[in-house]
Amino acid sequence: FGGSALFAASYYIVQRTCHVRLFSDRLAGFTFWGWQLVILLAAISLPLGVTSSKEYAELEWPIDVLIAIVWVVYGVVFFGTLAKRRIRHIYVANWFFAAYIITIAVLHIVNSAAVPVTWTKSYPIYAGTVDAMVQWWYGHNAVGFFLTAGFLGMMYYFVPKQAGRPVYSYRLSVVHFWSLISIYMWAGPHHLHYTSLPDWAQSLGMVFSLILIAPSWGGMINGIMTMSGAWGKLRTDPIMKFLIVSLSFYGMSTFEGPMMSIRTVNALSHYTDWTIGHVHSGALGWVAMISIGSLYILIPRLYGRREMYSTRLIDLHFWIMTIGIVLYVAAMWIAGVMQGLMWRATNADGTLTYSFVESLSATYPFYAIRLLGGVLILAGMFVMAWNVYRTVAQRADMLDVAIPQPAAQPA
Ligand code: HEM
Ligand code: HEM
Repeated sequence: FGGSALFAASYYIVQRTCHVRLFSDRLAGFTFWGWQLVILLAAISLPLGVTSSKEYAELEWPIDVLIAIVWVVYGVVFFGTLAKRRIRHIYVANWFFAAYIITIAVLHIVNSAAVPVTWTKSYPIYAGTVDAMVQWWYGHNAVGFFLTAGFLGMMYYFVPKQAGRPVYSYRLSVVHFWSLISIYMWAGPHHLHYTSLPDWAQSLGMVFSLILIAPSWGGMINGIMTMSGAWGKLRTDPIMKFLIVSLSFYGMSTFEGPMMSIRTVNALSHYTDWTIGHVHSGALGWVAMISIGSLYILIPRLYGRREMYSTRLIDLHFWIMTIGIVLYVAAMWIAGVMQGLMWRATNADGTLTYSFVESLSATYPFYAIRLLGGVLILAGMFVMAWNVYRTVAQRADMLDVAIPQPAAQPA
């Protein structure tokens, strides 16, 4: 879902901001079918138990090779389009997409390096602590570049577009771009606190994670302040609500993450549902909300329609989804802190106050709340599917979408 949204948004944005058609339609088509094939193969191979057992990189080597090929072709299409642009300036959204495409290629290829023994089995070339460190260098940068930089690219195009205002500060966008990509690289060890990873490396990860608040909030502030002078739109435009609430969740999860990377806080939060709450305030609150807001802008444009079939249905979707995410995340926060406190509680004689099963049964009510949250989010997606169907199906309100005049002089 996130990957497909990123492919679609980046291909659209790079064409609009460079005033040229994609470098190659056939290669772009290849990336679409290749990516869908990866997902299909994942859905078949993982339930069969075919896995490299590396977190977030479970797929076995033939699928990894396919991902690498699709990704390199993606890079060729994206950078090929940038290279033939007719606007000298490279818009900031494209900087974020460029960083995300290059970095994901490097992360994927380095982390997946393995020696194949059969078609369905391979052994990583790393071992022990080094393996763990490479894994979380990959894992955390997947958050930083796939789940953050790519979606910031989306944000930098669609928020100003929908607000009808220029980006609040172009200078801030450049500063937070460079600081974000250089600091993210070092934060991985916060996933390995209290492990056999050397102490200094854990501290390094913690310090870089704390510094990471600054560039993250730079992006959030830049996005939200782009609304200056257009705040009134929040009353009438539910798409704007999606975009702004998503930025708020981005700010929240990038404040929470650095707090969780402080070693003493992590001693409480690690292994608990607090982490799951953090994951989904990022993955649902930020990633899914910004994607959905962007899709509501993109879909009518792609089909030459003036706007989505129903604005009220977008509003309904916004509210169901927001309530669903808040229920999900708040339930996991409370459950997580409760679990952490129960696990560490000891009696005067040093024995544990609670057994693990007691903590599990205390968590059940919160799982019920998460289920309700999840059902609401899913219901919202059905509302969206219906709205999209009606938008595409309606014939009446066709719009001749104005193609921007290409720049007179090639760069
Ligand atoms: C400044 C930014 C951030 C920092 C410093 C940060 C830090 C952390 C920390 C300390 C953990 C817990 C590690 C553990 O105890 O095992 C964590 C987990 C996680 N975070 Fe973040 N986070 C940030 C932003 C985000 C965002 C924006 C997302 C999603 C869009 C995200 C997704 C995740 C995921 C998926 C995990 C779970 C990893 C696992 O499977 O163990 N994080 N993060
Ligand atoms: C209706 C929406 C969703 C529901 C109900 C849901 C539910 C869940 C559940 C039950 C888990 C397992 C937690 C555990 O191990 O105890 C999980 C894990 C996870 N989900 Fe979601 N999820 C949703 C949407 C998403 C989205 C949109 C993303 C990404 C963009 C995402 C990313 C993840 C990740 C990375 C993990 C692994 C976290 C970890 O092990 O630390 N989820 N989700």
